[in-house]
Amino acid sequence: MKREWWQEEVVYQIYPKSFYDSNHDGVGDLRGITEKLDYLEYLGITMVWICPMYQSPMDDNGYDISDYKKIAPEFGTMEDFDELVAKAKERGIKIMLDLVINHTSDEHPWFQKALEDPDGPFHDYYIFQKGAKEPNNWRSVFGGSVWEKVPGRDEYYFHSFGKKQPDLNWENPKLREQLYEMVNWWLDKGIAGFRVDAITFVKKDLTWRDREADGADGLSKCTRACRNQPGIGAFLRELKERTFDLHSCVTVAEAPGVPYGELGDFMGEKGYFSMIFDFRYADLDIASGSEWFKRRPWTIKELGEKIMASQTELQKWGWGANFIENHDQPRAATKYLREGQNNPEAVKTLAAMYFFLRGLPFIYQGQELGMTNFQRNSIEEFDDLSSVDQYYRSIEEGYSPKEALEFVNLRSRDNARVPFPWNGERYGGFSTEKPWLGMAREYPPVNAKDQAGREGSILEFYREMIRFRQKGEHRDCFVWGSIEPVESSPHVIAYKRCTEEENIWCWFNFSGLEAEERVPMGNMEPVWQSHGEARVCGDFLYLKPYQSVMLKEV
Ligand code: NOJ
Ligand code: CA
Repeated sequence: MKREWWQEEVVYQIYPKSFYDSNHDGVGDLRGITEKLDYLEYLGITMVWICPMYQSPMDDNGYDISDYKKIAPEFGTMEDFDELVAKAKERGIKIMLDLVINHTSDEHPWFQKALEDPDGPFHDYYIFQKGAKEPNNWRSVFGGSVWEKVPGRDEYYFHSFGKKQPDLNWENPKLREQLYEMVNWWLDKGIAGFRVDAITFVKKDLTWRDREADGADGLSKCTRACRNQPGIGAFLRELKERTFDLHSCVTVAEAPGVPYGELGDFMGEKGYFSMIFDFRYADLDIASGSEWFKRRPWTIKELGEKIMASQTELQKWGWGANFIENHDQPRAATKYLREGQNNPEAVKTLAAMYFFLRGLPFIYQGQELGMTNFQRNSIEEFDDLSSVDQYYRSIEEGYSPKEALEFVNLRSRDNARVPFPWNGERYGGFSTEKPWLGMAREYPPVNAKDQAGREGSILEFYREMIRFRQKGEHRDCFVWGSIEPVESSPHVIAYKRCTEEENIWCWFNFSGLEAEERVPMGNMEPVWQSHGEARVCGDFLYLKPYQSVMLKEV
């Protein structure tokens, strides 16, 4: 693969509503990000992905856009945005935006005009069907039918996600033209690229036929019929050719549902995007990607196998986009470490395991502090649309309200969306006003001020990992090297990073007990160890509880 500038980045994901509130109204904003550039520079990241900051009624916190070219007033102005891009650039930090083009808000003027005039040109920007009842039994991602009745008419509109998020009709070339114009307009402003939202949803099964019901509500999950459907390639290729190809930009697609066999179409030199996120191991605690109540047991061995399968497949085509958290996922420490979640050494081994995989590391705000999930006591305390849906659906499926609340606490997207704790003061120094979303603790003990400069802290560990990958002696191997799985004991995940010059073996102990690993080569020298010296005796490496060790063949 030809080398590209973006392959060397370390990305930090910001949820603007919860990063920093510069004008103290309880809601994070763009100036808040600009004011915290010092922190991002201190951490060492090179690119930021900002979740949607466009004008929006915020029904799904910005993933429901009512004007693609305006900034949400609660987040600031276009001047604030331009200032952020310019100030970030001065520090060598690039800005990526979130591109949400599968749907808009129902408050977008296109949709408003579509409702007003069923014979007008905007009606065909969305998906409508005439009739006195829902045209089929598909369930939307956030629950209930994908069809919502148009008030006063025997007509329904289609939404894959919430009912305030009508899907755009990609079959209409005029609509696609409008989207391309908008995408180019943002790229011309000098942003580095996009994270592309829900892009595998843009093609639907146009027969609209019923599917077999899969829940107590009698509905069938819509992803079977409106995700990665045949024919999607023509849309995505055109999108790429008309926009991304005209700029030196980076794109990372949220593309669930793409089989490994089709990765080459979606990523790499010939693919529609630079990279895609692979969700297979992010969802290993649930039996079905979107149903939180279908929980399943899993082991570290299985996690390791899934990660290595993913890396091996991604490597065939291009570059990984590696993450353990984002704004849709619970906190990684809680999800992957369970009883080890409050042990900083456990958090570090998890961090290093994913950070040194082949590809771009993505860090979600607060992950670098080892934040954990919260515990809420009633469904009223949640903001996230899907938490509310999953709560009531669990009850409909026969679980008790207590069990339903437990599923939601484990999986709620609000876990990651709580305000960022800058210090141990009230509201974590995020704002002087009560934040828009309740924090786990009003005076958070886990916070950036406490960890900055403190030896052994998780934040300092992240800084060290970033420095080691970006500027360390083995940079070439960790950035450009290939990856291969390595056999290990059940609680250890291991892999090898290799270039022509170097072979570096990496072991990560996910257990509170010592682990013994066979070291295959005679001469190995440590290049990294997370706490204390690596102990190698003869053919064996002894890892302390939750230790990570990397040895180089000499
Ligand atoms: C995926 C986004 O990450 C999520 O937050 C959002 O709710 C859906 N797409 C719909 O846009
Ligand atoms: Ca604010």
